[in-house]
Formats: sequence, structure tokens, C-alpha cells
Amino acid sequence: MSLINRPHARPALFGRLALIAAIGLAACTSAAGTPTGITSQTISCPAASTLTYANFGQQFIADNCGSCHDTRQSPLLTTQSEVQNASARIMNAAVYTEKMPQGATAATMSVDERALLGEWLACGAP
Ligand code: HEC
Repeated sequence: MSLINRPHARPALFGRLALIAAIGLAACTSAAGTPTGITSQTISCPAASTLTYANFGQQFIADNCGSCHDTRQSPLLTTQSEVQNASARIMNAAVYTEKMPQGATAATMSVDERALLGEWLACGAP
């Protein structure tokens, strides 16, 4: 006997699909990420900036992003050039908004830390 011919099988299946769709929609409502107050107008590369990949970026990205963007999640952020190539997307996701790190709370990455990340990226992630 196939699943389709059982009278109660289909409503149960549709109920489950509806639930999955609802969860998907709920996840999408926060897709843009909460704004941090940092914007392209307020961020710039200070002439005196000393941040480099070696003394800042590598460890910062590994600590905050590496658990997902190491081998599994696009964009991969495991080398300096990968980070540089994704710079504009990182600005949008983790500096201007709190979309990333995914599931973050204010405690995960403070606005000050996001501003530091933005400064380094604005300098070209040297
Ligand atoms: C817990 C896992 C996780 C962590 C930690 C995480 N990400 Fe992500 N990231 C994801 C997932 C999943 C996606 C794809 C889904 C999406 O875009 O919402 C993603 C997508 C992205 C994208 C592409 C989004 C776009 O709209 O272009 C960027 C850029 C990004 N992450 C940057 C970062 C940065 C920078 C960090 C660290 C500050 C970080 N992520 C930390 C899971 C994570």
C-alpha cells in the first residue's frame, strides 16, 4: 500500500510542510540584519591605522567567523585574499549590520569590535 492512498497520510505531510515553510519565513525576516549605527559615511581608514592581517584580521576572523566560514560556508574566509575579495560583503554583514556572525548577540561582537573590523577593511585589509 502506498503512502498516497492512505487517507490520513497527506494532511499530515502538508501540515509538516507548512511548519517547515513557517520556520523558513521566520528565519528570513531577520535576513537583512539589525543596523549597528556604523555606516559607509562614518567609517574610514585613519592615516595612523596600524591594523594588519597579521596583527588583527587573521585572528579576529578566525575567532568570530572561522567556525562556519572555514571549510563549509561561502564565502570562505581562511586567507587574506579571500577576506579582501569578500570585503564589501563583510562590511554589509558584520560592520553595518549584525547579520553576522549568524546567531550573534551584542555580547558576541560589540559595536566597537565591528568598527575596528570596518576600519581594517576600509584600509584594504592590509
Ligand atoms: C554560526 C555560523 C556562522 C558564523 C560564526 C558566521 N557566519 Fe557568515 N554566514 C553563515 C551562513 C549560514 C551564511 C549564509 C546564509 C546567509 O547569508 O544568511 C553566511 C553568510 C555570510 C556572508 C554572505 C552574506 C551576504 O549577504 O553576502 C558573509 C559576507 C558572511 N557570512 C560573513 C561573516 C563574517 C565576517 C563572520 C564573522 C564576523 C561570519 N560570517 C560568521 C554562518 C556563519
